Amino acid sequence: MNRTLWHDTEGNSIQAHGGMILQHDGTYYWFGENKNGSTSVAPSGDIRVDFIGISCYSSSDLHDWKNEGLVLIASDDPSSDLYKDRVCERPKVIYNKKTNRFVMWMHIDTADYTAARAGVAVSDAPTGPFTYLCSMAPNCSDCRDLTVFQDTDDTAYLIHSSDWNKTLRISQLTDDYTGLTGVCTTAFIEQEREAPAVFFHEGLYYMITSGCTGWNPNSALYGISGNIQTGWKLIDNPCCGKDGRMTFYGQSTYVFQKDGIFYLMLDHWNPADLKTSGYSFLPIHIDGTALTITMED
Ligand code: DGJ
Repeated sequence: MNRTLWHDTEGNSIQAHGGMILQHDGTYYWFGENKNGSTSVAPSGDIRVDFIGISCYSSSDLHDWKNEGLVLIASDDPSSDLYKDRVCERPKVIYNKKTNRFVMWMHIDTADYTAARAGVAVSDAPTGPFTYLCSMAPNCSDCRDLTVFQDTDDTAYLIHSSDWNKTLRISQLTDDYTGLTGVCTTAFIEQEREAPAVFFHEGLYYMITSGCTGWNPNSALYGISGNIQTGWKLIDNPCCGKDGRMTFYGQSTYVFQKDGIFYLMLDHWNPADLKTSGYSFLPIHIDGTALTITMED
């Protein structure tokens, strides 16, 4: 049921928060943050779970999810970006046809969220193991919430909150998707949006984002552009009906498509105990260029 914590085929809680769904060779792969540890408060006041790893679950029907385990695991090296005391959030995976590899981008940070970097890892299989390559400040900017978007011509982009979450940046990825070309544009300047989720439909790009209120819910907004790199305009809150102004007490993380319908994935964060945070997959109704999303099961 939407808004609740879901369980895998073995009856264990699905630990794939801040996640995404990749479709590959007829299987759905759900990647996300494993938060199956105790929630604590860092000296900075930030609420956290020590980094454990990035989970992957597979499914043929988006209903029964098999746990494929941790595909990127915390490091025991205190100098590593993946050490338990760091932040590793919002993993997003895309498949590169040219290299036949899966590339994962993720938000890497210190516990106080001041390092603000993008990390990248690669794997030969969706079920891992992913090899962590490095982290970077994309095009010399800070990077917190992020997503990746693969365009119809297979050019891919890292889309991330920057300038202390004030402005989103769209950084083009290299052909192998593991680096940046240096082509970088901005969207929603000074609008303080995060949790970006992007999709393309009938010639237009859509981006659903949240406001910036930590683990607490706020109003979603969507924007539209005819060009992934420029011209983004904020339009409205797509969430309607009861609790729509609070994104149904959730936060966007990804949009995936099944049978021609786009679905918004939400996290229902529980900052008192992050491992119990729930999920929703909600169909996006598109009428012309207007998006509406209601809470349904
Ligand atoms: C909001 C982000 O969307 C989450 O991924 C997480 O970074 C929290 N902030 C931390 O407060």
